[in-house]
Amino acid sequence: MSFEAADIPAHIPKSLVFDYDLFRAPELGHDPQREVSRLLHSKAPDVFYSPYNGGHWIVARAEAAVDMLRQPDKFSSLPEHNKHRDFKPRMLPIQSDPPEHAAYRKPLGERLSPEAVRLLEKDIRAFAREIIDDLYPKGRCEFVQDVGLRYPITIFMRLSGAPMKDVKMLVSMADKYTRSPELVDRQDAVRRLGQYLNNELRERVTCPRGDLLTMVTQSKIGDRPLNDDEREGMCVLLFLAGLDTVKSALSFIFTRLAQSPEHYQRLVDDPARIETAMEELMRLSGVSQPERGVTHDFEYRGVPFKKGDRVVFITPLYGMDDRVTDDPSKMDFDRPMPKHWIFGAGTHRCLGSHLARLEIRVLLEEWTKTFPTMGIENNQAIEAEGGGLVWTPKALPLVWKVA
Ligand code: HEM
Repeated sequence: MSFEAADIPAHIPKSLVFDYDLFRAPELGHDPQREVSRLLHSKAPDVFYSPYNGGHWIVARAEAAVDMLRQPDKFSSLPEHNKHRDFKPRMLPIQSDPPEHAAYRKPLGERLSPEAVRLLEKDIRAFAREIIDDLYPKGRCEFVQDVGLRYPITIFMRLSGAPMKDVKMLVSMADKYTRSPELVDRQDAVRRLGQYLNNELRERVTCPRGDLLTMVTQSKIGDRPLNDDEREGMCVLLFLAGLDTVKSALSFIFTRLAQSPEHYQRLVDDPARIETAMEELMRLSGVSQPERGVTHDFEYRGVPFKKGDRVVFITPLYGMDDRVTDDPSKMDFDRPMPKHWIFGAGTHRCLGSHLARLEIRVLLEEWTKTFPTMGIENNQAIEAEGGGLVWTPKALPLVWKVA
């Protein structure tokens, strides 16, 4: 162990301490979904204390996680219960609890509903084709840069209405927020993103358009409009959620397919299978690690939680839990109903999941139509950047034969 007993607060029993660093565990370096779950599901308690990064609990098992995420009275999303989530502006609806949460969630829910998102399919497909037609003749690409950072991010930028010229700056702010171990760096990213969006929002108040930013300026909580902080906080969350997660999950999904030609071939041969195979691919490609703060002292499943404790949920682990999935490391397109919680659980379940699923399905449909085979250049191992709030492959060099 590379920590001192003195790092562990008095209320934590030794039996619940496990040597796992959320930012630096070696298992995060390659295929973190399989490697971290192998480690934690064989050796760690279901809920354990990690002494690193200021010390916090980690929930390793699906059943406990889903149950805890459904109890906001004990495990709260409010910043006042978790000093690691002290951001200005407060991000909404993700940093709120019931009952105010429902009011903040409603306007975004309408705009990102399955019906609203379905209307985007034609444009998303046309954009997927544009990228594929550009890449195919080249015989190779670096997927994270050429697709991950282009396809979902451009779709989100168009939807939000933010100018494309700012995309690099916005992606780098999202990256800083998502992957910096230091809270001050994450706070800085949120503050700067808030300032940027505040200007965009002011412009939408005077010149409304049909974009997400305008929708936020027109949203109401009950019968009052959102105030400036609430608008900013809602947009900051949307940008942080929209600019990184799909790129990261999609890049893991394409890693899995490129590493397993027989699975890729099945999708080429039978495109009707894509919609169900996608759930198995997503089960193996979760990326997000949300948090909660403990509201008061209590014991839960033998764990002595104390007011102000920080609790991290590694959502990629829950579909990899051998108590819910047989042989979880195996990719099996014939599983009747792959179970996963990569979009979270409880009241804060991801609002962007319909958009994310649409983007993934459309790209897989168009990609398999065009590329009869694909593989990883020199079969090299794919390095991942674990740690932080969202896992991602660092780079994915793909190659294919051009007919
Ligand atoms: C594969 C892609 C994605 C993954 C894996 C993902 C994952 C998650 C997770 C785990 C949560 C729950 C957080 C918590 O419990 O604190 C969440 C919430 C949220 N996500 Fe996503 N997300 C994805 C894509 C998106 C996209 C594209 C958007 C927006 C365009 C989005 C918007 C949101 C919002 C607004 C919330 C907060 C919901 C609430 O607080 O009620 N997500 N996401």
